[in-house]
Amino acid sequence: MDVYGIIGNPVEHSLSPPMHEAAFREHGIDAKYVTFEADPDRIEEAFRGADALGIDGLTVTLPFKHDAFEFAEPDEQIRRVGAVNTIDFTENGPVGYNTDMTGTLRAFEHHDVNLKDTRAVVVGAGGAARALAFGFEDAGADVQIANRTASKAHDLADEVPGATGHGLEDLSDLMADADVVANATSVGLESDESVAPADAWHRDLVAFDAVYKPLETRFLTDAAAAGAQTIDGAWMLLFQGVGAFETWTGEDAPVETMNGALRSHL
Ligand code: ATR
Repeated sequence: MDVYGIIGNPVEHSLSPPMHEAAFREHGIDAKYVTFEADPDRIEEAFRGADALGIDGLTVTLPFKHDAFEFAEPDEQIRRVGAVNTIDFTENGPVGYNTDMTGTLRAFEHHDVNLKDTRAVVVGAGGAARALAFGFEDAGADVQIANRTASKAHDLADEVPGATGHGLEDLSDLMADADVVANATSVGLESDESVAPADAWHRDLVAFDAVYKPLETRFLTDAAAAGAQTIDGAWMLLFQGVGAFETWTGEDAPVETMNGALRSHL
């Protein structure tokens, strides 16, 4: 039997186990997917132990994505992002991937949104914003980054080719000219607030929210009320899992099955 899992702290409420177990069942793969709540002071030991135990693959969540990046050999594209959320334990050693980044792009594709040559605004400058900003840039978008602490937006923009950093006071003006606006802040997480001014939305925007609790955030309901297209945070979660499954197994993931399993647990 193959063994996969998610490593993080905390992980007890993770939605990854039902999503991956549904995928393994659908493909008739004899595998288990378990949760590992690792001690942050012993994370490197935990990764080495997983390798030594013959664990086949790990999903890595907060706060260990940078530790995973240092542990697993990342490819060139991921080297820029500085975070790994998927480890494949191969015969040649552990290899790191960032399916948060590639998964978000697949979530847009799934919604028939082509990011090439769009003007995309990323709100936030933390880990989620990094994955989105590099992902959008990779997809050929012109990236603007707006953050409450403007200096962090400038710092991130300096790393992303062609990107520009702003404070949140510029957000309304940025949205007026944008095609895509993505919330990568924690604003709206279990609260009825939005980081974006309600009157800045218009029908030519696509709104994406990395927050998925609740699924219908204020950010997305304001966007929908103005006629904008919306993509909720569960799509990012789904497609990062789809990317992990495909990396580990080399098979096309059963996207509908995984989506059903995920949404039935939200
Ligand atoms: P993650 O790694 O999940 O992205 P993070 O690194 O803690 O989390 O980043 C949180 C993001 O949400 C930051 O961009 C933060 O802005 P600051 O850099 O100014 O702290 C943003 N954020 C959190 N609370 C916010 C609020 N009330 N208003 C605006 N932005 C907020």
